[in-house]
Amino acid sequence: MENIQNRRIRIFDTTLRDGEQAPGASLYPEEKIRIARQLAKMGVDTIEPGFPISSPGDFQAVQQISRELHNVEICGFARAMKADIDAAVRATQDAAQRRIHMFLSSSDIHLDFQLRKSRQQVVEMARSMVAYAKQFVDRIEFSPMDATRTGDEFLFEVLEAVIAEGATILNIPDTVGYALPEEYGNMFRRVRQSVRGGDTVEYSAHCHNDLGLAVANSLAAIAAGVTHVEVTVNGVGERAGNCSLEELVMAIETRKMTMGVETGIITSEVFNTSKMVSRIMGFPIAYNKPIVGRNAFQHEAGIHQDGLLKNRSTYEIMDPEKLGIPRSMIILGKHSGRHALKHRVGQFGVELTAEELDALYTRFKEKADEQKIVTDDQLMELVGATVEGHMEAFTLTHVHVVSSSDRERIASVSVRNNETGEEQAFSGSGEGPIEAIVQSLSQAMPMNVVFSDLELHSLSTGEKATGEAEVTISVNGETFKNTGIDQDILVAIAKAYVSACNQAARVQRQSEAGATASSAS
Ligand code: KIV
Ligand code: ZN
Repeated sequence: MENIQNRRIRIFDTTLRDGEQAPGASLYPEEKIRIARQLAKMGVDTIEPGFPISSPGDFQAVQQISRELHNVEICGFARAMKADIDAAVRATQDAAQRRIHMFLSSSDIHLDFQLRKSRQQVVEMARSMVAYAKQFVDRIEFSPMDATRTGDEFLFEVLEAVIAEGATILNIPDTVGYALPEEYGNMFRRVRQSVRGGDTVEYSAHCHNDLGLAVANSLAAIAAGVTHVEVTVNGVGERAGNCSLEELVMAIETRKMTMGVETGIITSEVFNTSKMVSRIMGFPIAYNKPIVGRNAFQHEAGIHQDGLLKNRSTYEIMDPEKLGIPRSMIILGKHSGRHALKHRVGQFGVELTAEELDALYTRFKEKADEQKIVTDDQLMELVGATVEGHMEAFTLTHVHVVSSSDRERIASVSVRNNETGEEQAFSGSGEGPIEAIVQSLSQAMPMNVVFSDLELHSLSTGEKATGEAEVTISVNGETFKNTGIDQDILVAIAKAYVSACNQAARVQRQSEAGATASSAS
C-alpha cells in the first residue's frame, strides 16, 4: 500500500457542504454556483455542492452545478435514509460523473445519545440504504460518522456490511478532530488488511481541525495509501474547520519527492479561490494562515529581508507567484534595515547617495516607530522630503466626508498633480461614504480607474486605533493594489486609492519611457 511513486491524490472539495456548515457561512445557490465554477477551474476532482434534502436552495444548487460542470465529479450528500438518497440521486441526475455520499454514525456515543439505535440496527440501516442507493448510482461513498471514536470491532463490521452491498469508496472521518496522525494512518492500514473486501474499495480521508491536526492527519492517511482527501478552501467548516485545501495541496506539492504523490490542482488558482471563498462567505483569513494569509510570504525582520534579497530560498520554501499571489515580500517596518530600504526605493527607480540613504533611514525609523508599517506612498513622501522633490504623480492634500444615517453621503477631495504642480478639488456623492470618496477621486485621475476591491483592518486597539485600508483598482485591465494608513479609516481608503493610482501612473510612465527609448534606437 505504501511507497507507490507519484500516486495521484484526488481532491474532494466539500467547501459547499461541510464548509458551509460553519456558523455564519451559509451561501445562496448563486454563490455556490460561482464558487463551484472556480473550484472546477482550479482542478478539484470532486465537488460536494450541498445537502440536497436540506433545502430547496441546496437542491437547486446541486442540480445546477451537476448540469453545468461536466469535467468534475459531483457528489450528492445523504443520510442513510431513502428520502435523502432520492433527493441526492435526483439533484445529481444530470451530472456527467457522480457519486452518492451516505453517512451514518458508528460510535457508541452517537448511537446512544443521538441515534438511539443499537449496533445491529445501525448495521442493518447501513446495509439496506447502500443497497438502495446502489440501484441508482454505481459510485457509493460511505462514511461511518465519528469513526475515530468507534473502535475497530464495530467499525469493521459496518464497513464489511457496506462493501458487501456495493459501497465503492470508504470515507473514514475524524468527525470531532480527535485522532493523532499515526493513529489515523494506522486505522486505514488495519481496515484495509482486516475488513473483508477491504482491498477492493477506494479510501478517503476526512479530517476536522479541533486539535489543529487536520492536515497532518490527512497526510498520514495518504502515507497509509488513501487516494481521496476531503478538504475545504481556507479550512472552513464546523467548529475549527476541516482540512484546508491549500495547505494540503501545497504540502504535497512542496514535498512530493518525499511523499511520492501528486494532485491535479492548478496551484496558480489557489489564491484566487481562497479570496473568493473568504469574500463570499464573509470569513476573513487570519494574517498568519499558511499559504493564503497576508503574512505567509511577507518578511519584516531585517536579517530575513537581507537574506531574501540575496536569495529568495533563504527564507521561503514556496514561490508565491506560482500560487497566484502578487509578490510583495518585503514589509517595511521598524525591523527593516538599510538594505531593504535601498532595495524598495530602487524599485521605484530612485537611486540615493550614501548620505541620502542615511538621512532617509533616520526619517523612516521615526515613521516606523509611530506606526507599525510604512506604506510605499509614505516611503516616497519621505524620499521626497529627503531629496527635496516629489516622487509620486499625485498627492492627496485634503479629504472631507459627510456621512449621515438617512441622507446621501458626500465627499470632497483635493489632489495635487505633482508633474504640473496644479491642485484641484472635486466632490462626489454616493449611497455610502466609500462610494462618495471613490466618485470624487476618480475625477481627479487622468486615467480610467475601476475600483475593484477594498479590505479594512485595524492596526491597533482602543479609541485611537489606526486603520489600514488596502485598495485594489484596475487600469487598462491591469491590477494595482496599495495601502493607506490613518486614524480615520475613510482617509486611509482615500490614501490607498491615490497610492494605487500612483502605482498605475508609474507603470504607465515606465512603459512610455520604454517606448520612447526603443523608437530612438
Ligand atoms: O465530519 C464528518 O463526519 C462528516 C461526514 C458526514 C462525512 O462531515
Ligand atoms: Zn465533516
